[in-house]
Amino acid sequence: MEVIIQSNAELAARTAADVIARALVAKPDLVLGLATGCTMESLYDLLVQKHQDTGLDFSRCRTFNLDEYVGLAANDPCSYHYFMRQRFFDSVNIDLRNTHLPDGMAEDLAAECARYEARIVACGGIDLQVLGIGLNGHLGFNEPLSAFRSRTRVQTLSRVTRAQNAPLFPSPGQVPRQAITMGVGTILDARQCLLLATGLEKADVVAKAIEGPLTAMVTATALQLHPACTIVLDQDAASQLKENDHYQRPVATPNKNGGPPPVRPQKILLASPP
Ligand code: GLP
Repeated sequence: MEVIIQSNAELAARTAADVIARALVAKPDLVLGLATGCTMESLYDLLVQKHQDTGLDFSRCRTFNLDEYVGLAANDPCSYHYFMRQRFFDSVNIDLRNTHLPDGMAEDLAAECARYEARIVACGGIDLQVLGIGLNGHLGFNEPLSAFRSRTRVQTLSRVTRAQNAPLFPSPGQVPRQAITMGVGTILDARQCLLLATGLEKADVVAKAIEGPLTAMVTATALQLHPACTIVLDQDAASQLKENDHYQRPVATPNKNGGPPPVRPQKILLASPP
């Protein structure tokens, strides 16, 4: 696991956007796993900007979102389908036929979950999975007690999650009780994972995810098992990490003028990449 700590949220989002851009340039038909949530808004803004300024090309990119609420139609402003079009898809040159989200309106939800998994496999698997983290440590909507080997399925949302997402709905009572989410196992199958977390309110759960024992009570701890996972944080989100000596070590780069090496983003390797 690689942890990159940036001084502020904007730099953290830039770092994550750069990782995605590099992956897309290296593989134009990248299979990109996508996330929703407020943290992702600045990331999508930066990707749109890269598309506009540098021509970053999404025309062959395939995407799979982590999750969708059960019972919300794609044109519902509170749905993740809607979020993705508003925040990202409609502002870049992606082919909408290459974008995938679970259908929360499917009559047979179990069949929809199986179809979603099969679709990912048919596309060759996810190359790079972008992730946020919930206040209870969830990835996607893998609420506490989600098995590390779980696959795409219907999840009942916890009280913490419904409260966290309530501000995005007209009233708290309108937050759906269930969602379709990729499973923890589905996420761990991605070739690379990239988690972005910013802000003080995430500090506690981020420390648990990175330094805590593996537990299904905090599903993000499963990322410790992933062979190629990068976690990008701002200083606030990193503020509860305990292994400070390790994290504070600047990455030295040669300075042509002979002065002390400039302090680059703090970066640690907790485990070697494969
Ligand atoms: C929702 C999504 C998660 C996301 C989380 C974080 O619960 N299902 O995938 O990680 O929001 O949201 P925010 O970035 O708003 O804190």
